[in-house]
Amino acid sequence: MIEVGEASSAFVIFGGTGDLSKRKLVPALYQLAKQGALSPSLAIVGTSRTHLSDQEFRNELHDALVRHSRTQPIDEAIWDALASRMRWVTTANDDGYAELGRVLDHLAVEKDTQGNRLFYLATPPSAYIPIITAIGRHSLASAASGWKRIVIEKPFGSDLTSARALSAALSLTFSEAEIFRIDHYLGKETVQNILVLRFANSIFEPLWNRRYIDHVQITVGECLGVEERANYYEQAGAMRDIVQNHLLQLLALVAMEPPASFGADAVRDEKVKVLRALRPIHPDEVAERAVRAQYGPGYIEGQRTAGYRQDEGVAPTSDTETYVALKCFIDNWRWQDTPFYLRTGKRLPRRSTEIAIQFHGAPHQMFGREASAGLEPNTLVLRLQPDEGISLTLGAKVPAQGVRIRSVNMEFMYGFDTGSPDSYETLVLDALQGDATLFMRRDEAEEQWSFVDPILRGWRAGNSTLPRYDAGTWGPTEADLLVARDGRAWRKP
Ligand code: BG6
Repeated sequence: MIEVGEASSAFVIFGGTGDLSKRKLVPALYQLAKQGALSPSLAIVGTSRTHLSDQEFRNELHDALVRHSRTQPIDEAIWDALASRMRWVTTANDDGYAELGRVLDHLAVEKDTQGNRLFYLATPPSAYIPIITAIGRHSLASAASGWKRIVIEKPFGSDLTSARALSAALSLTFSEAEIFRIDHYLGKETVQNILVLRFANSIFEPLWNRRYIDHVQITVGECLGVEERANYYEQAGAMRDIVQNHLLQLLALVAMEPPASFGADAVRDEKVKVLRALRPIHPDEVAERAVRAQYGPGYIEGQRTAGYRQDEGVAPTSDTETYVALKCFIDNWRWQDTPFYLRTGKRLPRRSTEIAIQFHGAPHQMFGREASAGLEPNTLVLRLQPDEGISLTLGAKVPAQGVRIRSVNMEFMYGFDTGSPDSYETLVLDALQGDATLFMRRDEAEEQWSFVDPILRGWRAGNSTLPRYDAGTWGPTEADLLVARDGRAWRKP
């Protein structure tokens, strides 16, 4: 059983019956309740413009939980206890917000939330600023007699200017320590394990630098397309959807210096230093260092798949990228001139997120070229999903007379019998307990946009083409060339 922290609170979900609430937040709250990790005085308030009764709200969430819970069947007694703490308030106008204020005051007494208030924005991004402004106008946060916090989903803005505007709007009501910007990748067990691998072991650190590492490849590959999110994705594209947040966070975790502690600011200070040291890709450099592409029709696991432009809700002339590959450098003492190749794409052959650290080859091949023909460079691969684990490629002698070397893999499968919590379980609990280590600070989000904006500008200025790749392949030839020009090749995950 997890120890109960300062989690007594009103948990207000804006977009209470939206997709995120149904697929992630409520299943996370249910799992936490099941583990005994929620304070008995947590009250959940759902809200949006929709008119619902408390019971209708509970029923909708119950149906969603039955569909999305990671443990089945659901335990109805736990659900009933959770549902009894749920309220619905309609916030279609100022009267609705005033009512929300009254309900929160009332819950402080009725459910003993101790006057703590956590506001969770699980709405489309266009609603963020109107909601934040309404929270301020109705003093919903300042009236909290305990602590107040706000959790905000990605995308955090659509460029540096809008990210700054969003932070400025938030800062009128919340201090930076009260703002929890979500990147759900940071809640993944295997992503946190990057820090454990690097900093709880002593054998890697001496090798973790430009002297021993030839290059790093980070892949976030998905076989899914844009599903029902074409509206959002048409505006975002792979750069804003994955590179600006998940991929750059993974890069920062791999490349950062050891923090003094696992405290929120210690970790985030080190990550932000890496982001600041990223060598910019100027608009006129996009042709050499950045590739974007869009999937056309193809086959995934033998099934015919439509191209992006044929997907529902996508403009037939859309030039939104569904694939990005970048060649990045971190200009600091540890990493100078070591390429970090990043790539992400939708409709790739399979789902695979991994970080591959490729070491330099042995300086002298004393066994001769022929014996070493089957030898690959030592590579440490952190597989984040699926098949979570770590593997290390080593050269081994093939049993026979004479010497013939082949590469073999030393494997660790990340299979603990405790099972892995979903990232939202971790992040919701951390937010309730006020631990911001796994959330993005304002400066991180802004540095990420500072890196991404000039590339997007270069693309908008027409400084590169938008090649197609067939659905079910690992991306366009242009991406292969990006690494082939350096005498390297992408791994096949
Ligand atoms: C989200 C993106 O942030 O991450 C989605 O908006 C993407 O487009 C998803 O599919 C991938 O997350 P995961 O946890 O499935 O790797």
